[in-house]
Amino acid sequence: MVHIPVLQKEVLKYLDPKPNQNFIDATTGEGGHTLAIIEQILPNGKVLGIDWSQELIQGLKVKSNLVLVCDNFVNLKEIVKRERFLAVSGILFDLGMSSWHLEESKRGFSFLKNEPLDMRYSSQNPLTAEKIVNYWSKSEIEKILREYGEERFAKKIAEKIIKARKSEPIKTTFQLVEIIRKAVPSRHQPQKIHFATRTFQAIRITVNDELNNLEKVLPQTLEILKPGGRLVVISFHSLEDRLVKNFYRDRVSISLKILTKKPIRPQKKEIKINPRSRSAKLRAAQKI
Ligand SMILES: C[S@@+](CC[C@H](N)C(=O)[O-])C[C@H]1O[C@@H](n2cnc3c(N)ncnc32)[C@H](O)[C@@H]1O
Repeated sequence: MVHIPVLQKEVLKYLDPKPNQNFIDATTGEGGHTLAIIEQILPNGKVLGIDWSQELIQGLKVKSNLVLVCDNFVNLKEIVKRERFLAVSGILFDLGMSSWHLEESKRGFSFLKNEPLDMRYSSQNPLTAEKIVNYWSKSEIEKILREYGEERFAKKIAEKIIKARKSEPIKTTFQLVEIIRKAVPSRHQPQKIHFATRTFQAIRITVNDELNNLEKVLPQTLEILKPGGRLVVISFHSLEDRLVKNFYRDRVSISLKILTKKPIRPQKKEIKINPRSRSAKLRAAQKI
């Protein structure tokens, strides 16, 4: 399946790219938003495209207006300095994983496919999902399921994980799904969202340190953007969205003007074509 960029029209509206301006796409992924921005900044503007997954960066076509870097966006200031990428008119974050991670990476991002429990965006990252479920303590596992998955059966799932790994190592996504199935009461299983969703989200966030990376990168954007430059963040769950909302709120009138009073959500039409967009929230601000 081809990756469909989420909120494409809205991203362009709030970034407002013009000919010859420079932009940063901090989560280039399969390049959907990056390419749409490039079309607007021709002939002399440039896009710095960053992604933590080497495979995605390698899959993008080299273009004269595109500078590609494989790195964690938590290093944004260093990357910009190293690349001498100046006069930045806008920065985009389209957070989380891409369709490639779910459907092609074979790294266990999807509970619908039987794959090794990995869940890393970057193969350089020392922590994997397998290490968490096989070596972390019951209380550590319960804590991440509660905090990052907002999973009400966190305690029960953590207990079942500890019990299961005593008889054999938990190596695959389907082993983990079966363990969760036993921990979540059956009346809670045929819900709108799959019973393994929250556990998988929590483990993925932990493996990739997603909330810390976001919290650390947001202040860096203010040092990089030129006055009038725009920051656009698309988040996919409430924990990320809260971080962005609070970051904007704490700097309003001092260094930022908020452009989206309420987060922008995809229209029904978009959700129908691209169900993954259903939880997307876009927040935009402008550097004063
Ligand atoms: C939702 S996808 C982006 C899709 C992209 N906008 C497109 O149109 O194809 C999010 C991307 O962010 C990358 N990513 C997640 N955390 C990252 C981080 N800390 N540093 C750099 N890239 C990261 C993932 O590898 C993934 O490819």
